[in-house]
Amino acid sequence: MVRVNIELPFRSRLHEPRTAVVLGRWLGAALAVCFVTGLISHLLQEWGGPLPSRPVNGYRITQGLHVISGLAMIPLLGAKLWTVYPRLFAWPPLRSVLHALERLGIALLVAALLLELFSGLLNTLQWYPWPFPFRQTHYWLAWIAVGGLLLHVAAKAPVIAEHWRRGGPDIAGRRAFLTAVAVSTGLVTLTTAGQTVPWLRRLDLLAPRRPDLGPQGLPVNRTAAEAGTLTIPTTWRLTVNGPNPLRLTLADLESMPQHTVDLPISCVEGWSASATWTGVRLRDLLDRVGAPRDATVRITSLQRRGPFRETEMAATYARDPLTLLALRVNGEVLVPDHGYPARIIAPNRPGVLQTKWVNRLEVLS
Ligand code: HEM
Repeated sequence: MVRVNIELPFRSRLHEPRTAVVLGRWLGAALAVCFVTGLISHLLQEWGGPLPSRPVNGYRITQGLHVISGLAMIPLLGAKLWTVYPRLFAWPPLRSVLHALERLGIALLVAALLLELFSGLLNTLQWYPWPFPFRQTHYWLAWIAVGGLLLHVAAKAPVIAEHWRRGGPDIAGRRAFLTAVAVSTGLVTLTTAGQTVPWLRRLDLLAPRRPDLGPQGLPVNRTAAEAGTLTIPTTWRLTVNGPNPLRLTLADLESMPQHTVDLPISCVEGWSASATWTGVRLRDLLDRVGAPRDATVRITSLQRRGPFRETEMAATYARDPLTLLALRVNGEVLVPDHGYPARIIAPNRPGVLQTKWVNRLEVLS
C-alpha cells in the first residue's frame, strides 16, 4: 500500500497526548457520573423502582448530578475534541480491519455523545422539537457512548498509560489551557447548579429554571390548561379500587386524618424545589380498601394525554408514611396547576411520577 503523508497546518502544540489524557480523565469521570445517575432515573421512570424510598432527597441528588455532569461535559467535550481533531485527519484513514473498527468506535462515541448532550440540553430547556421518543433515544445513546468509550480507552491504553502521570516535557501553554477549561467548566456548573442546590441559588444565572418561581412558590412543568384539567367537575370522586372499593368526595378526604410532610419535587430536567405538603397518607387509603401490604398501586390522572397519565407505585413507596395524596401545598389548597383536587407526593421519586389531578387508585395484586 502506498502511504501518503499529508502535512496539515495544525500549529498548536497542545494537540498532544498528555493534554488529551488529562481532558479524557475529566470527561470520562463526568460521563461515568452522568451514566450511573441516568440509569437510576431510567429505572425509576420505566419500572417505578426497585429503589428504596429513602433518602427522601435521593432523586434530587442523583438527577441534580445527572444534569450538572451533563452540562459540565459540554465545555469538556469541546476542549477534548479541539485537542485531538488533527488526529482525525491522519492518513491513510483506514490501515487495517482492527484500525477500521477503532475508527468506527470513535465515530460512534463522538456522534452518540454530541447527540446525547444536545438533546439533553434541549430537554432541560423544555424544548422538544423531535418526532422521536426522547427517553428511549437518550437511554440507548448513553449505552452507545459508554460502549464507544470503553473501546476507545482500550485502543488508546498504551498512550494513556504513557501519559497518565506528569513527567514528560512541559509544553508551553498546556497549564493555561487546562486551567481555562477547568474554569469554564466550573463556571457552567456554578451558574446552573442553583436550580437544585439551594445554597447556589443566588448564582443561578444560566439555569433554565428558577425553582422558587411559580404558583404557590413552585415551578410547573405541565399546566392544567395543557393537561385539559382546568375545570374539575363538581361530581369529582376519588375511586379507590381494592377488595372493598370506595368512592370518596373531597370532603370525605378532608375529614380523614391529615398529615404534613416536607418533600421536594425533583424534576427530570434538573430542577428541584422543596415544599410542605398536607393530605391523606396513601397507606391509610389502602388500608381502608383492605389492600395487601405488598400491593402495587396504579394511579390514574384526569389529564387527557401523556405517558404518565397512568403510573404504578411499588409498595415501598405506597406504604411509606411520607407518601401522601396531597390536598394542600405550603398551607394552601392546591391550585389547578399543582394538581387540584389531589396529587401524589412521595419521597425519592421523579417529578413526572408525582401524579397530579388524581382520579383513581387501583390496588394491583
Ligand atoms: C468521554 C469521551 C471521549 C471522547 C468523545 C474522546 C474523543 C477522542 C477523539 C475523537 C480522539 C481522536 C482519536 C484518534 O483519531 O486517534 C481521542 C484521542 C485520545 N483520547 Fe479520547 N475521548 C474521550 C475520552 C477519553 C478518555 C477517558 C481518555 C483517557 C483518560 C482518553 C484519551 C485519549 C488519548 C490518549 C487520545 C490520543 C491522543 C493523541 O494520540 O494525541 N479519551 N479522543
